Amino acid sequence: MEKVSILLIGIGGYGTNYIKELTEKNVTSAVIAGICEVMPDAEEKFPAIKERGIPLFETPEEFYEGHRADLAVISTPIHLHFNQIIACLRHGSHVLTEKPVCTSVEEAKELLAVEAETGRFVSVGYQLNYSGDVLAMKRDILRGRFGRPVAFKALHAMSRGENYYKRNNWAGKIRVGGYMVNDSPFNNACAHQFQNMTFLLGDSMDRAAQLSEVTGELYRANSQVENYDTAAVCARTKEGVPIYYYTSHALKAKKLGPVSEFLFDKGTIYYGKDFGQGPVMEYVAVMKDGSQYSYGQIPKGERLQKLYDAIECVRAGGHPVCTIQCAVPHLEAVNSLVQLSVVQLQEEKLEYVSEDGDRFCRILNLEDVFNRCYEEQVMPSEAGAGWDS
Ligand SMILES: NC(=O)c1ccc[n+]([C@@H]2O[C@H](COP(=O)([O-])OP(=O)(O)OC[C@H]3O[C@@H](n4cnc5c(N)ncnc54)[C@H](O)[C@@H]3O)[C@@H](O)[C@H]2O)c1
Repeated sequence: MEKVSILLIGIGGYGTNYIKELTEKNVTSAVIAGICEVMPDAEEKFPAIKERGIPLFETPEEFYEGHRADLAVISTPIHLHFNQIIACLRHGSHVLTEKPVCTSVEEAKELLAVEAETGRFVSVGYQLNYSGDVLAMKRDILRGRFGRPVAFKALHAMSRGENYYKRNNWAGKIRVGGYMVNDSPFNNACAHQFQNMTFLLGDSMDRAAQLSEVTGELYRANSQVENYDTAAVCARTKEGVPIYYYTSHALKAKKLGPVSEFLFDKGTIYYGKDFGQGPVMEYVAVMKDGSQYSYGQIPKGERLQKLYDAIECVRAGGHPVCTIQCAVPHLEAVNSLVQLSVVQLQEEKLEYVSEDGDRFCRILNLEDVFNRCYEEQVMPSEAGAGWDS
């Protein structure tokens, strides 16, 4: 069968993973048909472009004037996804877009309509959804192995300093040039654990659970950030399952978690739990009858399984598992949080540290507060964080 031709849109940030995968590994099923990138030194940074004679453009429209692609892979800033996805679908390409799929539910509905009209798929790059262990766990959840879901929670925070926020014109921003961005740890770097909980609670393999309410507490440690950099979120699915999530970029440690706990009436699935010999970074189900089962033995697949799944669906038909609908509950949660006010932490609650050529703003007691919040399923104000005074 012919190779799947791929248009890569945005290769400088996360998109580097895709160009490297396709040029440095022996991927026999696909070929890069073109690249869209606006950074001036793309050809110097990626010698493979010249070596392989890959045509380089600034916009998808310029590419499609003289070329075609079976699949477009979009790794551009969040607020550009919507228009680029539409352009690619209308020019006959299937799409794998990085998360979030777009920035409003109205846009997501329009994407669904254009997806149906063009007969091309849009898959979204929440990589946990493509992982073999997560998929096996979801199958088990759907066939009732753990009984009824009761409450889900996760904690994942990653330290980010000035360099992260300065790398582009949209990091930490609410709006850019008239477009909503809503960049935050919840919408971007630490989006996965929350989205994955909605995915696992979905009523079929390719659906995420719809949410009926979303509330939380939002904080800003780093005053250079326009949006929030710390969030505690409490959502509830339409079926009434509460989902708690805690995330931040303003912590002393490099990272906290990911840890998660999915409580069902027949048992609990843990990730990152310490059973006595250090945290186990696998999903482990502990049933009420005392039996245990680890999903660690199930192959996860490739690191960029989402790319290989998209290539396979172009070749064989079908739709990759992370559909537009799978991205919508997370998108709705991001947009619900916009309604909440962001509390700026006072200076005495913070410390500033220069390290490894970067400068970090950190909340002094974040680790303690988040660990307590996670244990007790409460908000920072309820855990006595003292962040609002
Ligand atoms: N799945 C993951 O784990 C993961 C991790 C990081 C980022 N992401 C996602 O990847 C996307 C990009 O994030 P990033 O951190 O790489 O952003 P970035 O700003 O660091 O990089 C974006 C790249 O797109 C290019 N670009 C900008 N405008 C463009 C345009 N109009 N046409 C073509 N290229 C353009 C930039 O030059 C740059 O190379 C976001 O949606 C983000 O959420 C996903």
